[in-house]
Formats: sequence, structure tokens, C-alpha cells
Amino acid sequence: MFRPSMFRPRCCYCILCSLLGLALAWLLLFAAPPAAQAQNAKGPISFVNDVAPILKENCFACHDAKKKKGKLEMTTYANLRKGGSKDDPIAPGKPKESYIIDVLTSTGANRMPPKETGDPLPPERIAVIARWIEEGAKLDAGLDAKADLVRELRVRWKPPQPPIAYKYPANVNALTFTPDNKKLIVGGFHELTVWDAAEGKLEKRIFTRAERAYAMVFLPDGTLAVAGGRPGQEGDVRVYNLHAGAAKDLGGVPSVDGVHDKAVLVKELLETDDSVLALALSPDGKKLASGGCDRLVRVWDLPSAKLEQSIENHADWVFSVAFTPDGKHLVTGSRDKTAKIWDLTAKESVLTFPDHQNGVYAVGISSDAKTGFSAGEDNQVRQWQATDAAKQIGKQIRSLGHSKAVFRMAHHADVKTPLLATCSADATVRLWNPATGAALKTLSGHTDWVYAVAISPDGQLVAGGSWNGEVRIWKSSDGNLVKAFNASPGLAPKTAEAPKK
Ligand code: HEC
Repeated sequence: MFRPSMFRPRCCYCILCSLLGLALAWLLLFAAPPAAQAQNAKGPISFVNDVAPILKENCFACHDAKKKKGKLEMTTYANLRKGGSKDDPIAPGKPKESYIIDVLTSTGANRMPPKETGDPLPPERIAVIARWIEEGAKLDAGLDAKADLVRELRVRWKPPQPPIAYKYPANVNALTFTPDNKKLIVGGFHELTVWDAAEGKLEKRIFTRAERAYAMVFLPDGTLAVAGGRPGQEGDVRVYNLHAGAAKDLGGVPSVDGVHDKAVLVKELLETDDSVLALALSPDGKKLASGGCDRLVRVWDLPSAKLEQSIENHADWVFSVAFTPDGKHLVTGSRDKTAKIWDLTAKESVLTFPDHQNGVYAVGISSDAKTGFSAGEDNQVRQWQATDAAKQIGKQIRSLGHSKAVFRMAHHADVKTPLLATCSADATVRLWNPATGAALKTLSGHTDWVYAVAISPDGQLVAGGSWNGEVRIWKSSDGNLVKAFNASPGLAPKTAEAPKK
């Protein structure tokens, strides 16, 4: 009943104890497995719904197409059944003869997941896999054996409705003003919320598949492109029409369904395996760029909704993207500690700014395209020469400081009143003259990390959004507070404390 193991135990004591351990585990599994019985009561085990989630959570990290540990790839049913350096780890109908059950229940060196990386799978999860094998190790009807299981699980996943009233504040990771300067769109938990900027009043809620919105930009036709995701699970770029859809009442506020209602969800530009963190619109309004955890920068032609370029120019997450004023280059910033400039026509990297000591969270570019801006974990907002194509290395001009990490920047490129706004873990939003680097205002009042910042299209208002859900809106000219409110709908004031970081 034991398959030959590749692992050669160092002494017989080890063999003994692994035998003992296995015997015990099998007793537990097959003699009286309460979990398996519970499963049985629910009917046959489904590979994609019951087994694949266990494999994804516990095994794919090492057994995906990239890592293929033990030459075993299990992100499709076909590849799992192909096996690795050994044969098919599954003997349909015979869990006791299946190598996968061997490794899951082993107490020896061949245990999976490997001992040094964590605990064994809980017996009830092993029982699910064992029961599935006993039932014939079947693939679900209608599912292709070669279907990518990560994708299949993502497609099957159903987003939860946002709460009517929030128990805990949702971190504000993104916000933006509407084109008429009057409203603010804020990212919540599986929703976007629309607020009257002058009154701080909640006007509308838009249910979204993404758990969090990380970036938003209004497109020329008045629709809103939103980048977001669910950390480590999925990421997306979707386009919403905030004025459409059949509204329902949610806690006294009209709410529309941006998940299913095609009048609200007008375009799905991207669905991917991890969060999308950044968006930028080209100055002519024709191209949209995104960046995210998969390290790729993508560029779409908006009129045709066609993906034009997938740019692999960073070694780590891309946190920020910005177009140059002529729309021909992209400035990008990454956790790999660099800001870079990409030539969209030549499709090549033309410049790197390497001076940040840590991850780069935000980038921008001056309206004459000569000065690049970047900011990040090293607390600095750095300005650098963006045109030194010969050397391909951006030389720093000056460095402006926050006292903690700088998360985002917003650049208002108006010729008369150019404005750069930055937000930080030091709980402030700061305004700068982007041309001279002069510090204009420090906008305080937030009591937690400020993750998001936006300038209204007319340049008059600046908004900051914080970890604890609070949004503050100021006048950019004098720094006076216009309105402050918590953007988590229905949040009781006394619970307005973020859960522990
Ligand atoms: C941290 C990385 C890691 C994780 C997580 C992991 N494995 Fe492995 N797995 C390995 C390595 C490394 C080998 C190869 C061992 C060897 O050949 O010595 C292996 C080999 C195997 C083999 C034998 C393949 C063959 O044909 O030789 C099976 C079966 C297996 N793993 C199943 C699983 C299952 C099921 C899970 C999830 C419950 C899992 N593994 C999780 C690293 C991992």
C-alpha cells in the first residue's frame, strides 16, 4: 500500500514514525471521518468547487506552471493527473493507493505542504480530497480538463453585497472628483460611493465586483474607469456609467448594481490574477494605461477597447503610471525602487530614475515634460530631469519631504496655477508648486495614513482619503477645510476606529 518514496529517511526510527503517523492519519481518515461524512451528506464532492480551492490555497504556490516543484503542476486537472517526477498522484476510487494522500498524511520528510513551510492540511480538508478520489476523482461536467483552475475559481466567485451600514470603516484607497467639480467618488468595500463635495452627503452607491478600488479616472464620455481587485485573488479594470441602471434603496440611498447591470458596468477591460493599482488617461483621452501587482503596464486604445501594449519594464509591482503631456511616453513607478520612462512608439525603456531608497508609490511629470516627479516609501517627493535620453538615467533636481511614506500624488497641470498634491502616512496632504518645488500648504486634520489624494478638475479643491475611512476636502487657494466626513456609509460615529493594522 505504500508507494516507493523519493525521500530517503536518515534512519529506521524515521521510517517507523512515519509509518505510525500514516497509520494513525489513515485511521482518522477512513475509520471515522466526521468531516467526510458531513461532506457526503451534501452529495458528491465537486473537483472545481471543493477540491480545487484547497489545492489553490495550499499547493499552487509551489505547484503552478512557474515553480512546478517535483515537476508537478496542478493548476489544471489534466496536469494534476499527469503527475510530476512520479506518475499520476491519484488512483481513482482508491484513496489509499493515491500518492497525493500519501504526501498529505505523511509525517515523514515527504509531507505536503513541506514541513518547513507550515502545518499539515487539517484532516477535514484531506478527507474532502480522499472522498473525491473515492468517488472516482471525476472532473465536473462541462469543465475542460485543461481549464486553468485559478481562472475557473475566479469566475465562480460571487462578490458579497456591500453592507447597508458599515461596522468598520473601509480604507479609502482611491477617490476622484467628478468632471463638474461638485461630487467626489470614493472607493468602499465592494462599492463606489458618490458624495456631494460641498455637503458631504452620500448620494449614490455602486456595487462593484472588486473588493477595493485603487485608482479611478473619468473618461471623455463621462464614464468612470476603475482599477482595483481583491488582494492576491483577482484584479480588474472596469468602466462604469454612474448615471445609468435601475436603482434600489440601500440604507436610504439609491444603489445600482455595477456587477450584473450592463447599463452600469459598460466595459470590462481587464480581469487578472491580482490587484490593479494604477490608472492614467492620455491627454487626448484616447489611451488608458494601468499598472499592478503582476508587474505589467498595459495600454488600451479606448475607442476600440483594444489592448495595445503589455509592458514588462519593472521587476516588481507597478504602483503608479502617468502619461507625458504629448501622450507619447509613460512614466511608471514601482516597488522595485525605480521610476522609469517608456517610449510608447519605440516600445522601449528610455530613462530610469534610481535614487529612491525604497518602493516608488507615485509618479508624475511636469507640463513641459522636462521634470519627472516620484515619491514613495523613503518619505521623499523627488524631482528629476526627465529628458536626459543620452545617459538614460534621470538626475535628481530636488527632493521634497514628508515625515513618513508618501502614497500618492495628484498633479494639476494648469499653466496659471500648477499644483502638485501629495499624501502620506504622516497624516497630511501637502501642496507644492511643481515648477519651483516651493511648499505651499500642509493640509492636516486626518488622524491616520492618507492613502488617496485628488485635485478637482478646476484646481479649486483638494481631497484626501484615509485608512480610517475619513475624507477631507480643502480649498487649494487658502487650505481651508470645506468638508470632512467618513466615507463608510452608515458608520456609527463611536465605532469610527479602524481595526488594528
Ligand atoms: C513550499 C512549496 C510546496 C508546497 C506549498 C507544496 N509542495 Fe508539493 N512538492 C514540493 C517540492 C519541493 C516537491 C518535490 C520534492 C522532491 O522531489 O524531493 C513536491 C512534490 C510533491 C508531489 C510529488 C510529485 C512527484 O511526482 O514527484 C506531490 C504529489 C505534491 N508535492 C503534492 C502537494 C500538494 C497536494 C500540496 C498542497 C497540499 C503541495 N504539494 C504543496 C513543494 C511544495
